Amino acid sequence: MPLYHKLGKIPHKRHTVFKKADGSLHYEQLFGTIGFDGMSSLLYHLHRPTMVKQVGATKDVSPKAAVEHNIKSRLLKGFQVQAEDDFLDSRKIVLFNSDVNVGLAAPRKSMTDYFYKNADADELVFVHKGTGTLKTFLGEIDFGYGDYLLIPRGMIYQIEFDSEDNRLLVTESYSPIYTPKRYRNWFGQHLEHSPFCERDFKLPQNLRTHDEKGEFVLKVKKQGQLHELVYASHPFDVVGWDGYNYPYGFSIHDFEPITGRVHQPPPVHQTFETNAFVVCSFVPRMYDYHPKAIPAPYNHSNIDSDEVLYYVDGDFMSRNNIDQGYISLHPAGIPHGPHPGTYEASIGKTKTEELAVMIDTFKPLQLTQTALDIDDGKYYQSWLE
Ligand SMILES: [Fe+2]
Repeated sequence: MPLYHKLGKIPHKRHTVFKKADGSLHYEQLFGTIGFDGMSSLLYHLHRPTMVKQVGATKDVSPKAAVEHNIKSRLLKGFQVQAEDDFLDSRKIVLFNSDVNVGLAAPRKSMTDYFYKNADADELVFVHKGTGTLKTFLGEIDFGYGDYLLIPRGMIYQIEFDSEDNRLLVTESYSPIYTPKRYRNWFGQHLEHSPFCERDFKLPQNLRTHDEKGEFVLKVKKQGQLHELVYASHPFDVVGWDGYNYPYGFSIHDFEPITGRVHQPPPVHQTFETNAFVVCSFVPRMYDYHPKAIPAPYNHSNIDSDEVLYYVDGDFMSRNNIDQGYISLHPAGIPHGPHPGTYEASIGKTKTEELAVMIDTFKPLQLTQTALDIDDGKYYQSWLE
């Protein structure tokens, strides 16, 4: 996040004496990314953040390919993914490659008896249904319908839900997730033509410091394995921090659409980027206003990227028979486009209420068995008249 933020108490000068009330020292931790070149924050703990008591069981949670080489367009009925009590158990990866995992989750319960850290990947959690609070060792972020939660790798967190009815789209990225470079100036500030700016971001608040010793389970995801570590102090023992590396939220409803006289290409919807994929937000907007404009997209050959569209709400202009929580996958190598009738029907329309999240990956995606279990199986022939 190219925006300086601080919470709690920190010393005037970094790497200097910073005492607790009893005269002993706080424990400073540099939390950086990309070695020492990326964004970082400086944290001040009550206890050493290194006090591992035990290393327990390890569970393989890496995705397994049911279809390794996919050339079919697919339609996955996302809400058919089974709800589970536990947040981590509920996360079902449906599509993946060596850069990214795309998963669906319907967790029923808050995370209360352990803490979680993803050491492999940045997580981008899109909240389709549910409200609650993301609790981290850097503060808390309240979330609701339409929020993206960006949790950089390594952040220790718990997630609290207000009810049992939750639906999430969870993307894990092995390279850092940033806002698009072209929307930022050389200092990192979002420019005037950006569809969102710093004011729209939900930064961590309410830093709660727990001064507790005992046994605290931290589940750490590393190399696709979930390791269970027991720490001797509460992971949320930070009294203050400052810097640029922290989780934040952004509501899709705050994305200001860019429109034109004729059809604008997908990059105008771009919200996040990485080395290996982009994330776009399709939001309610006015349609193209040239008198002869065709608002529905033209057929396109994304010859070198797989396109994943997650349908959130509203009518999707170029698709037939699409429901909430559905995912369409249009694989690289073959063109796709509007369904029969939708191209013509879009002419003269003035606006759309569609709401969707798109993930375009530069490498082909593989499908898991969970994806096949919710695949409609006939979508690839849906352009036939
Ligand atoms: Fe497309």
